[in-house]
Amino acid sequence: MDYTPAVIISRAVAENLTKASWIRRMFEEGARLKQERGADKVFDFTLGNPEIEPPPAVLAAARRVLDSDAPHLHAYMPNAGHPRVREAVATRLRQATGLPYTASHVLMTVGAGAALNTVLKALLDPGDEVITVAPFFAEYTFYAENHGGRLVVVQPRADLTPDLAKLEAAITPKTRAILVNSPNNPSGVIYPASTFVEIEKLLARTARPIVLISDEPYKALVFDDVKVPEVPPLVTRSIVATSWSKSLAIPGERIGYLAFSPRMAEAAELFEACSFTSRVLGFVNAPALWQWVVAEVGDQVIDVGPYREKRDLMYEGLTRIGYQCVKPQGAFYVFPRTPIDDDVAFVRLLADEGVLTVPGSGFGMPGHIRISLTVERDTVVRALPGFERAFRKAR
Ligand SMILES: Cc1ncc(COP(=O)(O)O)c(C=O)c1O
Repeated sequence: MDYTPAVIISRAVAENLTKASWIRRMFEEGARLKQERGADKVFDFTLGNPEIEPPPAVLAAARRVLDSDAPHLHAYMPNAGHPRVREAVATRLRQATGLPYTASHVLMTVGAGAALNTVLKALLDPGDEVITVAPFFAEYTFYAENHGGRLVVVQPRADLTPDLAKLEAAITPKTRAILVNSPNNPSGVIYPASTFVEIEKLLARTARPIVLISDEPYKALVFDDVKVPEVPPLVTRSIVATSWSKSLAIPGERIGYLAFSPRMAEAAELFEACSFTSRVLGFVNAPALWQWVVAEVGDQVIDVGPYREKRDLMYEGLTRIGYQCVKPQGAFYVFPRTPIDDDVAFVRLLADEGVLTVPGSGFGMPGHIRISLTVERDTVVRALPGFERAFRKAR
């Protein structure tokens, strides 16, 4: 659909809808294929929506809150969230980082998406820049633009970790934040501690304060005994944005938080600013029910075993065919190179085989595709021959 010229909606939104319309086309293509061939012959790897149910303890905690007679459980509260809930999160952060987090460093949010918008609104003036590293979560572009900012994309090293020289070269007087995501959507790559040690050195050299925003919703979804580095002990001026969307498989419930490092001189100022921006963005506060739930059981994690198994099946299957791919160590995606440079054309070849994927172009890295493993194991097994046929055709 062509959204221009805009009549009712703004030109900016019309342009964004046109830019993002390939997502809709993928969706329509998938629906068409399913109708044409039967849903069991179409393998849909496009959505990052957990296919599993939340842990029983999480649902039981939600039921306890709903059954409780305690007064005001569902009332308004301070915009940052219930102090008791924030203290519970701060306690976990103290244990994980060794840093003196308190409730006044934690602000509960409507998922990680709201956390990012809340902090970007607090940081950005019109024309300010946010640097990120490809491949990146596609919504970052829009999140920066929501607040008059601009996303600046830096290409990574061959192993898909940040290239520090390129990151430094991208800094301008307008840079207000560096936004990174590890474990990464779409690559599943985990950035090593050394990346953050280098970012700390880099931030110490800038004329104007720049904050590191660490977007960590996949932090608990890791394989192979790899440990995701704790960012706040490594980077002084750091803010963690995260959610329980993936770790508890509750993305529809919208619960997450922002944590301002106690090492940062501006922590109190940022907390104050974000309490305001969260309010005026219309979030007001994070859902009360789910605040109580995560205070109680927020350290639970879904069983990552099935994701590891699907990662192994997909990664080994693809590399056997000849695809080049950095092995994902976390999250639930695989991000192989396409055998031809044109990733959109290759996505079409795959779709002809009934295999639906997302072009890397959407994540700032053409020449790749994203495969989401939030599907049944059997779907991975049955889709691999289609991945092979498309690869041979492209060659
Ligand atoms: C990297 C990344 N950041 C943020 C989000 C938003 O998460 P939430 O559903 O908690 O808003 C997602 C969701 O897929 C994501 O992949």
